[in-house]
Amino acid sequence: MPAPTLFDPVALGSLRLANRIVMAPMTRSRADEGDRPTDLHVDYYAQRADAGLIVSEGIQPSIVGKGYARTPGLYDDSQVAAWRKVTDAVHAHGGVIVAQLMHVGRIAAAANRPAGVDVVAPSAIAAKATLWTPGGMSGTISPRALETHEIAGVVDDYALASARAIAAGFDGVELHCTSGYLPAQFMATGANRRTDRYGGSAANRVRFVVETIEALAGRIGAGRVGFRICPGNPFNDLHDEDPAETHAVLLDAIGGLGLAYCHLIEMATPQGVDHRALAAGHWRGPLILNESIDQAKAEALVGAGIADAVSFGRPFIGNPDLVARFRDGHPLADFDPTTLYAEGPTGYTDYPAYRA
Ligand SMILES: Cc1cc2nc3c(=O)[nH]c(=O)nc-3n(C[C@H](O)[C@H](O)[C@H](O)COP(=O)(O)O)c2cc1C
Repeated sequence: MPAPTLFDPVALGSLRLANRIVMAPMTRSRADEGDRPTDLHVDYYAQRADAGLIVSEGIQPSIVGKGYARTPGLYDDSQVAAWRKVTDAVHAHGGVIVAQLMHVGRIAAAANRPAGVDVVAPSAIAAKATLWTPGGMSGTISPRALETHEIAGVVDDYALASARAIAAGFDGVELHCTSGYLPAQFMATGANRRTDRYGGSAANRVRFVVETIEALAGRIGAGRVGFRICPGNPFNDLHDEDPAETHAVLLDAIGGLGLAYCHLIEMATPQGVDHRALAAGHWRGPLILNESIDQAKAEALVGAGIADAVSFGRPFIGNPDLVARFRDGHPLADFDPTTLYAEGPTGYTDYPAYRA
């Protein structure tokens, strides 16, 4: 059999991708005041539906899980209806889209969320991190530690959001388990000082993530559930004493579930985690690789069978037709970093397709 190319179809669990070029999840802060996607989102995602798979921007499964400005949710019916327009448009263009479920835990700025909503985390340890808010950069709110008996409710929020994602027409969900957000907080020794069954040993620290993934799989089917990790990622003040070991325990625990994919960010980390070796040793399912990958490297990774698909984040911002540009050998456009989180279409839906 000839080696696969980026443009060959592939199945990731129940997801059928027309090619192996995945759009990575990107928060763009353009939801309305009800945490709903708008007509702009419909255009933005439809423009990029040539990707074999779109992973949506991070979506909070509950209002408690919101930490950034104008991020969308999947915790009420009006949000389901609004997302339905997005998924219909993506499907009309032949695309496949999953919802990235992102609960920020302790990474929340007061200006970005309603007053009176608790900020929760595994332990009452504030993150030394700053977040973008419409009024400028801001520090985080000190969290309170989740009581043991509350944790099942947080897992339920995720499961309910996954059911809402399917009701909204998404093809599946991706659990965001890195970048210092709630699942990553549970896994990391620096953010988790719990003494119950969710803290201490690696098996205990991954328990929240395992229970959440099992709940998602139980609700919508394992073949529709992917997860995103970046062992050792220090973003948002996260530190784990042994991220390779922690993630090996996680991968071993969920390896038998038949999940759609592992989305691995291969980023150089302070502790020098060998992500490729970790995946080779502990993950047998479909693998999407990410982080600063260009077309040539992506082709090599897929051709060699190291990755089943490759995801691109920043290249999709200024190149809605990224797949066609790769296929036709056209140059890539840059994007304007000042409009990443701005309101409105500028720097969002106004990047044109390639014209000679
Ligand atoms: C504007 C922006 C927003 C992002 N938001 C998210 C997000 O919501 N969830 C997530 O998992 N990663 C997020 N990321 C990380 C990207 O998914 C991706 O991992 C990163 O850009 C590296 O890939 P690249 O080198 O192809 O851009 C974001 C990146 C950018 C540039």
